[in-house]
Amino acid sequence: MIRALIADKRILVCAGPGGVGKTTTAAALAALAARSGKKTLVCTIDPAPRLADALGVGGLGPEPRSVPPAACRLLGIPEAGERLWAVRLDTARAFARLVEQQVQDPAMRRRITENVIYRQITTSLTGSQEYAATLALYELAQDESYDLIVLDTPPTANALDFLDAPKRIAAAVASPAIKWFARPPGGGLSFQRLRMGGALVLRRVGKLVGSTFIEDLAAFLVDFQDVLGGFLARAESVDALLRSPQTAFLLVLAPVTAAVDEALYFHGRLQAAGVPVAGFVANRVQPVPGLTDPAALADAIRATGALNGQPEAAVGRAAARLGALGRTFQAIAAGERRALERLAARAPGTPVIRIPLLDHDADNLAELRVVGDSLAAG
Ligand SMILES: Nc1ncnc2c1ncn2[C@@H]1O[C@H](COP(=O)(O)OP(=O)(O)O)[C@@H](O)[C@H]1O
Ligand SMILES: [Mg+2]
Repeated sequence: MIRALIADKRILVCAGPGGVGKTTTAAALAALAARSGKKTLVCTIDPAPRLADALGVGGLGPEPRSVPPAACRLLGIPEAGERLWAVRLDTARAFARLVEQQVQDPAMRRRITENVIYRQITTSLTGSQEYAATLALYELAQDESYDLIVLDTPPTANALDFLDAPKRIAAAVASPAIKWFARPPGGGLSFQRLRMGGALVLRRVGKLVGSTFIEDLAAFLVDFQDVLGGFLARAESVDALLRSPQTAFLLVLAPVTAAVDEALYFHGRLQAAGVPVAGFVANRVQPVPGLTDPAALADAIRATGALNGQPEAAVGRAAARLGALGRTFQAIAAGERRALERLAARAPGTPVIRIPLLDHDADNLAELRVVGDSLAAG
C-alpha cells in the first residue's frame, strides 16, 4: 500500500495530532521512497534535535539539503545520486516570502510585515501555521526535480485545519471589510476615508481595543491592497495542490480508542470534502509479548544463564513476575488490537499500517529504518 503511494503520488502529507509521530513517519517514509530510487524531499517541522542532526538539517535554513552520504548508507539508500533531501520548514518565513514576491518596494514590504494586523493573520489566526506549511510546500513543489515530497505537519495540526487553511486565510484577507476598503465605490482608499462613516464600526472597535489598532488596521489595509490579489491567487493554487490526485493524506494516530474515534471523524470529514485518506498509520503499537507462561519463562531464563548459581526458587520468582508483566502487556496489546480492528471495520477500504513501539525514541537513523520497514510491510 505504502509502496503504491510512493510509486503513484507526488506529495504525501502526514497529518495527525501533536506528538503522535508525524515527523518520524514523514522522515521514515521519505527514506523508504529514496531507497526505492525516488528523488525525495522531506519537509520537516520542528524535528527532534537528534533527528534533525541525523538528517543534516540541524540548523534552520530555507533551502533543502541532501542528506549526508553516511546517513544514507545507514538508511539503506543507494549512494549513486543524491536521492534523499531534507528541509526544515520555517513557517514564519513562508508568509514573508509571499510578501517579498508580491511587493517590490522594500519600504512597503517592511511596513506590511511589521504591521500588527499582518502578524495576527500570519501567526495567530487558526490555520495560519498549517497554511504557512502548505505555502512552503507549494514553492518546493515547483521544483520538478523531486519525484516525491513528503510533508510533515505542524504540532497542533489536524488534517482538516490543513485543508481548510487556504480558504480560511483567503477569507480573512478578503473579508468584506477588507474588500470594502480595497475597492471603495468611487474614490481611492485613504486614511481619511477609513476615519469617515465607513469606519464607524472600526471606531467603535477602536474604543474597545485602543486607537493604535485603527491606525494599524488602516495602514495594513492600504498597503495590503497590493498583495491581496496575490494572496488569494496563491491560496487557490495551494488549495488545488492539496486536493489534486497527485497528493495523498496519511493520518497518523495512537492505537487507542479516543484516537481511533478522532481519526474516524477526520476520515469522514475528509471523504466528504472529496479528499479521501489514503491510509492510517497507527504508531507506537505495543508488541505482543512472546512468553507469558511461567514454566516457559523459567526455561527461557535458565537458557540465558542470567541466574546461574542462584537457587531454583529465584528462577521461579523471576518467571512468575515476568509472566505477570507479560500478561499486563498482553492485555494492552489486545486492547490496541481491538481499537485498530474497529478502525479498519469502520473505514473499510482505508488500510491501517502499524508501527511498533520502539525501545526508545525513534530519533536515530537505525530506528528510522525500522519504522520505514514497518511502513513498507503494512
Ligand atoms: N514508534 C515509535 N517508538 C518509539 N518512539 C517513537 C515512535 N515514533 C515516534 N517516537 C518518538 O516520539 C516522539 C514524538 O515523535 P514525533 O515524530 O516528533 O511526533 P510529532 O511530529 O507527531 O509531534 C519523538 O521523540 C520520537 O522519536
Ligand atoms: Mg513533529
